[in-house]
This record gives sequence, C-alpha cells and structure tokens, in this order.
Amino acid sequence: MWQNIEAAPADSILGLTDAFRSDPNPQKVNLGVGVYKDEAGRTPILNCVKAAEKLLLERESTKSYLPISGDPLYAAEVQKLLFGEAGEVIASGRAATAHAPGGTGALRVGGDLLKKFYPNAKVWISKPTWANHKGVFKTAGFELAEYGYYNPTTRAVDFEAVVASLESVPAGDIVLLHACCHNPSGVDLSRDQWQKVAAIGAAKGWIPFLDFAYQGFGEGVAEDRFGIEAFAATGVDFFIASSFSKNFGLYNERTGALTIVSPTAKDAAVAMSHLKTTIRVIYSNPPAHGGLVVATILSTPELHAQWLEELAAMRDRIKAMRVALVEGLAARNVKGDFSSIITQRGMFSFSGLSDEVVQWLRANKSIYVVGGGRINLAGLTQANIGYVCDAIAEAMNS
Ligand code: LMR
Repeated sequence: MWQNIEAAPADSILGLTDAFRSDPNPQKVNLGVGVYKDEAGRTPILNCVKAAEKLLLERESTKSYLPISGDPLYAAEVQKLLFGEAGEVIASGRAATAHAPGGTGALRVGGDLLKKFYPNAKVWISKPTWANHKGVFKTAGFELAEYGYYNPTTRAVDFEAVVASLESVPAGDIVLLHACCHNPSGVDLSRDQWQKVAAIGAAKGWIPFLDFAYQGFGEGVAEDRFGIEAFAATGVDFFIASSFSKNFGLYNERTGALTIVSPTAKDAAVAMSHLKTTIRVIYSNPPAHGGLVVATILSTPELHAQWLEELAAMRDRIKAMRVALVEGLAARNVKGDFSSIITQRGMFSFSGLSDEVVQWLRANKSIYVVGGGRINLAGLTQANIGYVCDAIAEAMNS
C-alpha cells in the first residue's frame, strides 16, 4: 500500500518535540512547543488539579457516557470564564457550549459545523498564525485567505492592514481571530482595536471565530476576555474555541470547549442541536476526566482561588523570563532591537531570529525554536538562560 506514497512531513511544532527528545546533548533546550515549564524545567500538575482529582476519585460513581455536549456543569463554568458570572450572554441564555477534545478539537468541530451551512465560505487567518489553523480548516474543506496582522519591522500589530483586510471580507466568510496572546507573534489588539474589529464584523456580516487558548496568560482571566466581550456586545453570531491545556496544565487530558454565541436563546438551542449532530459522528461524546477537573475547580471556591494564584504564578514567571532574555541579549551586545519581547503577551514571542539562526541554534547548540523564530518563553529558566543568550550572541554576532 505505501510503496508509492511519500512519507508525510513531521509536524512543524510537535515534530520538533520528537527531535528534541532524541537529542542526546545534556544542554539541550526546548523553546518550541507551547507547554509551560517551571523554574526547574518541569511541566507540573497544578495543585488545584491534584486536589480536584482527589475529590473526583472519592465522588465519582460511574464511567457511563457523558451527554454528547459533555457535562452541563462544565459548560456552565466555561461560560462564566468566557463571559463573566454576571455576563449578559449567560443571563440571556444565548450561548451553546459543548466540551471538545482540546482547543484543536473545538476548532475542528466548529469547522465541520460551519461547512454544513456555509459550504462556499473562505476562512480568513491572520498573517502569521498558528500552523495547525491551516491544517484544521483546510481539512474541514475550506479554502483559506490571509488578513494582514503582524508588521515585522515595527514588531507590532499592523492595524491599518487588519482594518483594510477585514473590511474586504464578504458576508458569510469566516474570520479566525486570536482572542488573546496571539500565537505565534505575542502581539495583541488593544481594547480600542478590538472594538473597531467587532464593529467591522457586525457591519460586514462575516462570522467571527475566536481561538481562546491562552485565557489568563496575557493580563488575567477577566482582562483577557475583552475581545469576546466586544463581539458579544454587537449581538452577532460568533464561535469561540477554548483550550484548558495551558491555563489548567491539562495538556494530555484534551480539555477544551466550543461555544456558539447567537443573538437569541432560541437560536442557541438550534445551534446546540447541530453541535450535537456534528460531534456525534466524530467522537460521539467527550472524554470525561479533564472536564470534570475543570468543573470541580471552577465550582469550588477554594480551588478556584488557588487556580487563579497558580495561573498568576505561571504568567508572572513568563513575564520575568521575557525581561531576563532581553537583558541577557543586551548584556552580550547582540545586534538588533529585542525590546518588543518584553511587551509581547502570552507564552510566545516572535524573537526576530531568522530561519538561518533558528537552524544554526538547533544544529550547533541543541536549542529548539519553531521556524519563523517563535520562542516559547516558558522554556527558559535561570539555569539555561545564560546558555541560550550565549548561543544567540554567537549566532548573531559572528
Ligand atoms: C503550540 O502552538 O505550540 C501549542 O499550541 C501546541 C500545539 O499543539 O501546537
């Protein structure tokens, strides 16, 4: 069967982790995949997760199927995270939430659902975007188009390009936006800009699809939902893909959610019926554990408070490593202006390293960076930052 078929290329992000694992160099550093690491270089299980798992072990009485859309308590708690407890969207009952296997699963369920009703739509992705966005929506059968987003010269959002592109998107096309902590660039829209983008969406009639994989890694859980609030205020239909891989550290539990916001509760009920038929033919119903952990944490006041603290600690450590990296490069007189790394948000930074330097770092220093120069700041620790800065200095100054 496979004799005349070429092997597929390794995944640009997860494939890097495979290469990292098999690298024997004891000094190797993985700045590739977006996984949080603590100061000791470990990806810990959060204490609130351990405590919730203990409660679940005592309380759980069945392993029977969950409903197609997942546990209702999970959906209710996810909506509180997205809209705030007192959010108008919740009071109006105009959102439908289904537990999906991770953020990727949520994107794909949303893609398959949209394809049924908008078969000729294009999906507009930011330039640049997370590599897997392309694969997910292409595989769901969509043609892709790009909207301008990042300006490599100013290392900031090119808002004129955003506006010009999004004003040209026809009604019924789908626009994929990063709700916060843009992956890979780390540069986000300001509040003012979100409001303008939401107004353009409402006026033009395109369908916003917000990828929300890093809630809490920017400024905070409530602060980071500004883009969601801006679209909710317009009353349009829109989609949100949530991931709890990063903010709850539940990477291997595949815990995410797809939320469809509609103008009315009646519309939301119809949306939910189609969410269910879409999910039923892909994975039937979701795996329970991660969703139960998240629901338990969010609905137990002490655990909720503990989670917010642990999340803040992750966010603060990443911010500290941003400063340490910029200072480390400046101390070594590395050519170039890296100051924007400090103001970028979330786990990633567009470092400004060329693909040539990225390849050199991997081949000579066993430092793994995603093509395009995206660095996962959480991969840096006090123990390896000197090595990384020395290596970048050697690559760039020679
Ligand atoms: C990343 O961008 O590194 C993460 O979202 C992990 C992934 O699945 O690519």
